Amino acid sequence: MAETYEGAVDRGLEGVVACTTGVSSIVDATLCYRGFTIEDLAEHSSYEEVVFILWNDRQPTAAELSAFSKTLRDSQALPASLVNTLKSLPTKEIHPMAWLRTATSLLALYDDQAQNDDEQSRKSVALRLTAKMGTLVALFERVRQGKEPIAPKVEQSLAWNFLYMMTGKEPDTAFVKVLDTCLILHADHELNCSAFASRVTASSLSDIYSAIVSALGALKGPLHGGANEQVMLMLKDIKTVDAAKEWIKQALANKEKVMGFGHRVYKNGDPRAKILRGMSKELCEKAGMPHWYEMSKVIDDTVQSEKGLLPNVDFYSATVYYSMGIPIDLYTPIFAFSRVSGWLAHVFEQFANNRIYRPRGKWVGKENQKWKPLA
Ligand code: COA
Repeated sequence: MAETYEGAVDRGLEGVVACTTGVSSIVDATLCYRGFTIEDLAEHSSYEEVVFILWNDRQPTAAELSAFSKTLRDSQALPASLVNTLKSLPTKEIHPMAWLRTATSLLALYDDQAQNDDEQSRKSVALRLTAKMGTLVALFERVRQGKEPIAPKVEQSLAWNFLYMMTGKEPDTAFVKVLDTCLILHADHELNCSAFASRVTASSLSDIYSAIVSALGALKGPLHGGANEQVMLMLKDIKTVDAAKEWIKQALANKEKVMGFGHRVYKNGDPRAKILRGMSKELCEKAGMPHWYEMSKVIDDTVQSEKGLLPNVDFYSATVYYSMGIPIDLYTPIFAFSRVSGWLAHVFEQFANNRIYRPRGKWVGKENQKWKPLA
């Protein structure tokens, strides 16, 4: 007789508190990283400073930030032999998240500290991974366009370099600021699906790269990080502001999910969406495409009035990236470029107080099966 487990089943682990965490918190509609509100960080900080805060549980001094930023910026370049290998990977009809997952796994083979389990090696690995994630995404874009990859400029920030390496042109300062703010807003989010995936892998005392590859796989899905791309595809499908209300009503009547809405934790709104809504309005107007913001606003109002659901981080980030001319399928890889810092903070927290994740499954399968010889 198979062993059975009679405990209650929490599908999707809803309401389950799986670990303690000091990385980020969600209380009602307030998101904090290490106790700092997201609004405060988005307005005053830089992505590099946020990474320091996430990893060190405190704000850096000016000297510490300068040294930390320099180390990150110096680590952006990829080994030449890896660039050659990456150039040989297929890119046509390949989703960039599948490519990024593969490229991150390959990066581990070029890192001689990847398997080390001492604190110092793990910290260097984390720095390199965080610094190189944007470089990988930009390289993918160059290679699929049939262009040569561009090396980063070490004196510039991660946000600046991403835009530079992707386009080959020195980016507009305003766009760098927008991307930096997006990186801050996406850096961590308590025990979301991908952070949990990274912690589950780390809990077996596997290596950091394996934990991050697990997280990348989880982020890729449309119910998680993949939603931002789906939002823009939906807007393109709707086409006009006038068509938006009826389109959404029909989708809801068909019991379809409207991408970029709803959240497991936030029931009174996602604070990141509020910040991104303002950015979307301003950027769409500046780019001469106000209709994308206007259409988003009609959808926002319709989903709220029809279903009582509010937009999440993915809804307005779609039009922010679109107005900057970023290819639609790179939205989720950019999410990963930022979120890798949060995943790493979770992985370190897991290592510091580890217990392997091993829940039970309630048996609902067949019983008393008897093997028979096939002949
Ligand atoms: N569009 C339409 N209905 C939605 C919805 C959406 N985006 N999100 C939730 N709902 C509805 C569900 O259909 C369900 O309705 P019902 O009770 O009538 O069946 C109810 O709201 C509860 O939703 P549920 O899917 O159980 O919530 P969840 O906590 O399991 O899922 C998400 C949370 C984020 C996965 C879900 O809201 C979703 O799929 N959103 C779209 C994808 C997305 O934007 N993901 C990014 C998250 S940051």
